[in-house]
Amino acid sequence: LHKVAVITSGGDSPGMNAAIRAIVKAANYHDIEVYGVEGGYQGLIEDKLSIIRTPDVETIANKGGTILKTSRSLAFMDDSGRKQAVEVLRNYGIADVIVIGGEGSLQGAQKLHELGIRVIGIPGTIDNDLDYTDYSIGFDTTLNTVLSSIGRIKDTGLSHNKTTIVEVMGRHCGDLALFTAVAGEGDIISTPELKLSFEQICEKLQDKISKGRNDNIIVVTERMYDLDELQRFIEEEMNIEVRTTVLGFIQRGGEPSAFDRILANKMGVKAVNMLMEGQSGYAIGIKANQLIEKDLRTMLDEKTDKQPNYDLLDMLLHTI
Ligand code: F6P
Repeated sequence: LHKVAVITSGGDSPGMNAAIRAIVKAANYHDIEVYGVEGGYQGLIEDKLSIIRTPDVETIANKGGTILKTSRSLAFMDDSGRKQAVEVLRNYGIADVIVIGGEGSLQGAQKLHELGIRVIGIPGTIDNDLDYTDYSIGFDTTLNTVLSSIGRIKDTGLSHNKTTIVEVMGRHCGDLALFTAVAGEGDIISTPELKLSFEQICEKLQDKISKGRNDNIIVVTERMYDLDELQRFIEEEMNIEVRTTVLGFIQRGGEPSAFDRILANKMGVKAVNMLMEGQSGYAIGIKANQLIEKDLRTMLDEKTDKQPNYDLLDMLLHTI
């Protein structure tokens, strides 16, 4: 192994840079040259590759986002786009690639693997929606950002005795909302795995208010409700004032947490080692605090069966 390309793809997540740093340093240590692909799979198709060396990455571990930039490439979803991407890699004499990203990005990694490129995937997404791994890079940082943001909202909620709906990201996965509540910052939660009706939200709210809590935080996963409608419904039904805050991109940026940086480092080094051993078609994950290698094809097939986190949901019923 003499050359490896690194791609960050899909939504950026805090810790991607720490992973890039680990890959470059581990590869350079073994005299392997690293090519950074600018702008995800789209950049690969457009031949945007340049060498990155250890000195380039010494100071990036604490930076959010990705220095390589990223994209959600439509062209790469087409056979012709993917063939073009492989052609570009071959022109550089690159047969090994590390992809850092979420589900769509790992699907792309599997496609590259099927086209004869050796590929290892690293999970980088704030959504934590990949079932095969307990954590993806970025989730912990985003969770911490959500917790501190809600802390601020609570200050004003408490001062005004006001109920606030807080919408968090997660795409179709409720982990951000769920972990937020388990960490103690949500009084009522509704996630895709445990969706509450407007009426159920009001019932729970009534229960809290009757126990003297007037500054409740309702945490909901994005894409589930028309938030204006939900706010109006609660206001009319309960005769209280409600505010809504969509945390949005505040959640995706920022300095990665120690957990994400260390996870990124471990996964980056392992990806280089796996390629050096000639492995391909795997995604690295972490289960029960141990790094695991998961066959990409199997992982993507099983993904559709993603199970709700029953342990946490159950715990929540007793502690919320
Ligand atoms: O996958 C990460 C994520 O931030 C999701 O939580 C969210 O639904 C989506 O990306 C937003 O996508 P975009 O950046 O294209 O608006």
